[in-house]
Amino acid sequence: MSELKVGIDRVGFYTPRLYLEMTDLALARGEDPAKYHVGIGQDKQAVIPPTQDVVTMAANAATQILRPEDRSRIKMVLFGTESGVDNSKATAVYLAHLLNLAADTRAIELKQACYGATAGLQLAADYVRAHPDALVLVIGADIARYGLRTPGEVTQGGGAVAMLVSADPQIMALDAQSAYHTADVMDFWRPLDRTEALVDGRYSTNVYLDFFKQTWTAYQQQTGRTIADFAALAFHLPFTKMGRKGLRQVLPEASAAHQQELTAAFEASQLDNRNVGNLYTGSLYLSLLSLWRHGDLRAGDRIGCFSYGSGAEGEFYSGVLQPDYQRGFDDAALTTLLADRRAVSVAEYEELFQQQLPNNGQDVQLAVGADSAPYYLAGRQHQQRQYRHRMEA
Ligand code: COA
Repeated sequence: MSELKVGIDRVGFYTPRLYLEMTDLALARGEDPAKYHVGIGQDKQAVIPPTQDVVTMAANAATQILRPEDRSRIKMVLFGTESGVDNSKATAVYLAHLLNLAADTRAIELKQACYGATAGLQLAADYVRAHPDALVLVIGADIARYGLRTPGEVTQGGGAVAMLVSADPQIMALDAQSAYHTADVMDFWRPLDRTEALVDGRYSTNVYLDFFKQTWTAYQQQTGRTIADFAALAFHLPFTKMGRKGLRQVLPEASAAHQQELTAAFEASQLDNRNVGNLYTGSLYLSLLSLWRHGDLRAGDRIGCFSYGSGAEGEFYSGVLQPDYQRGFDDAALTTLLADRRAVSVAEYEELFQQQLPNNGQDVQLAVGADSAPYYLAGRQHQQRQYRHRMEA
């Protein structure tokens, strides 16, 4: 009996139309720009206007990949985020409504720091293995906020990745085996009263590298595969230097020629992340998209993926590229989305940073004219967020 292939069929990505140049931020903070560009590995950082939150960003990503006939086949919406907008109601329920999905779907939010979308992807794959006709919509959407003038400020960003998981996927079939690891670690967290994360950045870097080593070793023991079986390794990229450190940890296991290939693949996998910044849950998936867009890959190539969520959970899993994988995403639209953004000054970024919906429950009407995205947040009335679709405005 041939095994059913299950995996990522289509991917959409959205980030708002504003960004901050890391040279400008470095100069404003009295740092050498080379520290940000080379030491941290970031060139631009998405700036999130108050008219976008994780729900609207997810809708703007998902709308790129949904066809009318998918809407009744989607049996689950699994929304990975650590920037949820309600302590009770799932972002996935708002999203299912905005996307006009059929009512016979499950809509759930998943939280474990930056790991949430990977949990969604694996749960989705298991569901589709049991229900091959179904589609599952998996989201990784976040706004990475560390605070003005903190060491983490250079590693902010935001956006959403939407993935459709199906049988006979167009982009990448997931291998059934994976290795995961959980431990109670205080490297990064966000108490309920805070809108910015607390982080012990260097400790977090060490835990990330340790979890990568542990899951990589366990994966090899489980599968009998070695680094020679991989055309590329993709990493969770809270900042691109982090993945570079991960790769360096295992490169000596590869032959000299293969080291060059893996390094070239890594360079491709971090290009888009460099220009968007941290997406938390979406970071590994933007990195995969960047690899598929810019890498020198072939159908049949096996890609290893390391997902990490502080707190902490890590997972190493793998997938095999399918013929026509480039048809599973809109390369030209993504290039345009990133190229058409407007640079903001540090002063404008600082002002926008303070403009989140205030935590006082009062009614707010946002100035929506500057936001051209299909889905946006118009404000809050009677403690309810007012989501809008541009066609309905
Ligand atoms: N030119 C080039 N590189 C430079 C430089 C310069 N002028 N100045 C410093 N650097 C390098 C440092 O050598 C260091 O590189 P290394 O990590 O390879 O040793 C890097 O830039 C960062 O310098 P560091 O002094 O450690 O920066 P920092 O104290 O400002 O903090 C982080 C950096 C990453 C710890 C901080 O941004 C942070 O906490 N970010 C959030 C962490 C996070 O995302 N955690 C979740 C992980 S999943």
